[in-house]
Amino acid sequence: RSLDINIEVPNEKSTQKFRIGLYFATWWSLNVVFNIYNKKVLNAFPYPWLTSTLSLAAGSLIMLISWATRVAEVPKVNFDFFKALFPVAVAHTIGHVAATVSMSKVAVSFTHIIKSGEPAFSVLVSRFFLGEAFPMPVYLSLLPIIGGCALSAMTELNFNMIGFMGAMISNLAFVFRNIFSKKGMKGMSVSGMNYYACLSILSLLILTPFAIAVEGPKLWAAGWQTAVSQIGPNFVWWVVAQSVFYHLYNQVSYMSLDQISPLTFSIGNTMKRISVIVTSILIFHTPLKPVNALGAAIAILGTFLYSQAKQ
Ligand code: 3PG
Repeated sequence: RSLDINIEVPNEKSTQKFRIGLYFATWWSLNVVFNIYNKKVLNAFPYPWLTSTLSLAAGSLIMLISWATRVAEVPKVNFDFFKALFPVAVAHTIGHVAATVSMSKVAVSFTHIIKSGEPAFSVLVSRFFLGEAFPMPVYLSLLPIIGGCALSAMTELNFNMIGFMGAMISNLAFVFRNIFSKKGMKGMSVSGMNYYACLSILSLLILTPFAIAVEGPKLWAAGWQTAVSQIGPNFVWWVVAQSVFYHLYNQVSYMSLDQISPLTFSIGNTMKRISVIVTSILIFHTPLKPVNALGAAIAILGTFLYSQAKQ
């Protein structure tokens, strides 16, 4: 008996779609795990400057080993590459440490609600620093973003000024990071993975002296002992998990940036925040007033309207 089998060869477009979907799902899942372990660590060991440094150190180590063992291709970079990368790394360092300081002071969900306001910073910086003009709908979409974030901040049960300002500074720094990286990377042929690896190494070098100056080994040693005596030896694994997952989610996000437009990337980033906000509220039993959740929903809806308006 003959059998007719219709094999559908997936075309390039659907393979590409599948690959991007896979990147997004991996990126969001890794990010959720990072946020949970990061907060668990910060609750027991409130030293965000050290945990930020360890995240960058873990990434740098993973990549140095990957290059040494030829698991990853060694990037061909020169002095000019690092010169162009320097302002990106400064902005990345500030954005990273500011977000971690924020999460050490407030609920993870609150930090991410404020961080969903990043598009508003992007438009304002582009308008006032770069003189770029946008169509009216783009400006209008900022109203729900700013209004929603403001409503959430005003009704946050555990509001803390350092936590709020940390998230705001992180927004501003990441907007500059994106602008500098777009400018600095033009014409350079380094993969997303290696680009992020070099960024981690440079950020680590920048952050280490500041972390020692702000917190320092004395506080770290005492805090570490307290954390291990409260949590037990598992605490060490929490620190390893937050550090490794930080690198992995960022690496995957940079790998997906290779494949998609910055706009699709920012929509993906907003979707990521929804999954982080919801999971962290469930896991940490974050108390939430309905009006506070409404603020978050309005802000996130605003970022979708923004992405539509930009299109
Ligand atoms: C950090 O520590 O760098 C932030 O948590 C990252 O924020 P993101 O969600 O914008 O990557």
